[in-house]
Amino acid sequence: MKAIVHTKYGSPDVLRLKEVERPTPKDNEVLIKVYAVSVNRSDWENLTGSPLYARFGGLLRPRHQILGSDIAGRVEMVGRNVSRFQTGDEVFGDVSFRMGGFAEYVCALEETLALKPAGLTFEQVAAIPQGAVISLQGIRDKGQVQPGQKVLINGAGGGAGMFAVQLAKLYGAEVTGVDNTGKLDFVRSLGADHIIDYTKEDFTKNGQQYDLILDVIANRSVFAYKRALRPNGSYFAVGGSVTRLLQILLLGPWIGRTTGKKIRILAVQPNLEDLVHATELCEAGKVVPFIDRRFSLSEVPEALRYLGEGFVKGKVVIIVELNNHS
Ligand SMILES: NC(=O)c1ccc[n+]([C@@H]2O[C@H](COP(=O)([O-])OP(=O)(O)OC[C@H]3O[C@@H](n4cnc5c(N)ncnc54)[C@H](OP(=O)(O)O)[C@@H]3O)[C@@H](O)[C@H]2O)c1
Repeated sequence: MKAIVHTKYGSPDVLRLKEVERPTPKDNEVLIKVYAVSVNRSDWENLTGSPLYARFGGLLRPRHQILGSDIAGRVEMVGRNVSRFQTGDEVFGDVSFRMGGFAEYVCALEETLALKPAGLTFEQVAAIPQGAVISLQGIRDKGQVQPGQKVLINGAGGGAGMFAVQLAKLYGAEVTGVDNTGKLDFVRSLGADHIIDYTKEDFTKNGQQYDLILDVIANRSVFAYKRALRPNGSYFAVGGSVTRLLQILLLGPWIGRTTGKKIRILAVQPNLEDLVHATELCEAGKVVPFIDRRFSLSEVPEALRYLGEGFVKGKVVIIVELNNHS
């Protein structure tokens, strides 16, 4: 099968389209013919080996030579213990535990997959998993957003941020979205009440305070985040620099004890129920999985370059195989 392979960390230039052996499903796995796979920031991080946490399990060489985790396609073969799926089923899910989605076929654990709803295309469901589950767990579960609360999404125009803005609005919050100049109209179109251009304004220095801050790109000190929180407010980082995440880990609990403000890292738990719920919201039209551009499998390097250069609004999707329902 064809796959996009990288054997060392680096820029998209290290990626190669190669002929590799098709994977064989284990007893509890499903082999999927990939129709569509979306590109996540985590693919970029695993390609470049930065931040350092992306090198977990592969300090000098990549642990996963084929990236790509949010996949959608058709079941080609099932392992002998698989009970929920059969050959021909249309499925999607998050295979980030082993990656391998930038390929014609990928294996996935049965419990990471859901049936594709009829009302959404393969490319739409491929755009949902990681970003939507991060946002659901941040906004609904950890944030417990209530109507009228003030919520700020830092990185609002990206793959997770676009879901977070829409979910926070759905839960009745007054939402501020922060991103770069080119993404602000997009962030407003998602429903954000206020927008902040991070290249021109520091949201922790403008005197505003929030009940919840969900941050996909933690790059400030915990004290700055504390300043931007209302009394009893909560801040959750889902991604960012290792230094900042360590600071949050070490000082967050102390700030909580002394001020009542919660500053934490959100470790996202892959959860099929959450994925299905987010997908139902998309099928009902309450949340839109916005796709900025589509690329072919051989264009994965261009797609990652586009992400790395800061252009992607929402998600980009790789169409691996054209079919009637892409
Ligand atoms: N905690 C967990 O368990 C868990 C699980 C999965 C993934 N993650 C992490 O969650 C994050 C998800 O990110 P994503 O997929 O949404 O990435 P994304 O699509 O790249 O979106 C990030 C957005 O933040 C913007 N941004 C960059 N610097 C900024 C700044 N200083 N202030 C405000 N916005 C800024 C980016 O704009 P530019 O284009 O200008 O850079 C981009 O629009 C990744 O870091 C991933 O590793 C965490």
